[in-house]
Amino acid sequence: MCGLVAVKQIAAFSGKVALMNSERPYGTGDASFLAAGGQDGIFKLVHNFFDRMGSDERFVTIWNMHPDDKTISRDKLARFLCGWLGGPKLYSEKYGAIGIPRVHAHLPIGTAERDQWLTCMSESVAEQAFAPEFKRYLMEQLFVPAEAVRRRCAARESEL
Ligand code: HEM
Repeated sequence: MCGLVAVKQIAAFSGKVALMNSERPYGTGDASFLAAGGQDGIFKLVHNFFDRMGSDERFVTIWNMHPDDKTISRDKLARFLCGWLGGPKLYSEKYGAIGIPRVHAHLPIGTAERDQWLTCMSESVAEQAFAPEFKRYLMEQLFVPAEAVRRRCAARESEL
């Protein structure tokens, strides 16, 4: 599936939240964290995401926005996702409080850059051993902060 189609599907799906796993709905308690394979599964996903970003020309713009050494970027995103998916708050334990739109506000992120990020993530999610319904759910959920980032960056651009 090409990246653009993937992103369109994510947009089309956004807003639908009540998918179930075998025990309880994703988004309640640690159901999503467990569906993603816990801490190991989430770190594996994030390593796949950054490896892909660095090795595919389609993602060069967002790759170059990150610091040259991606070690901390990997650690920060993986730790954030653990807490965001209902698991341990590993990001705040190590780095403190975070607001996702705010930490991106200094970056030139428009629709193209948002879609690079979502496409790169969608292709990485597709390679994980997650349940198919969790893969769809996760990408629907990620669209929300990704779009919030785009809007925040657009608002800052218009102030300059
Ligand atoms: C909309 C597309 C996005 C792009 C292009 C993008 C790009 C970036 C870049 C370039 C950085 C490094 C900033 C710096 O070091 O100055 C960063 C940091 C980060 N991003 Fe994103 N990002 C996007 C969406 C997201 C989303 C949706 C999430 C979470 C679900 C996320 C989570 C993070 C986290 C946790 C950090 C580390 C913040 C910090 O502590 O400094 N990003 N992102």
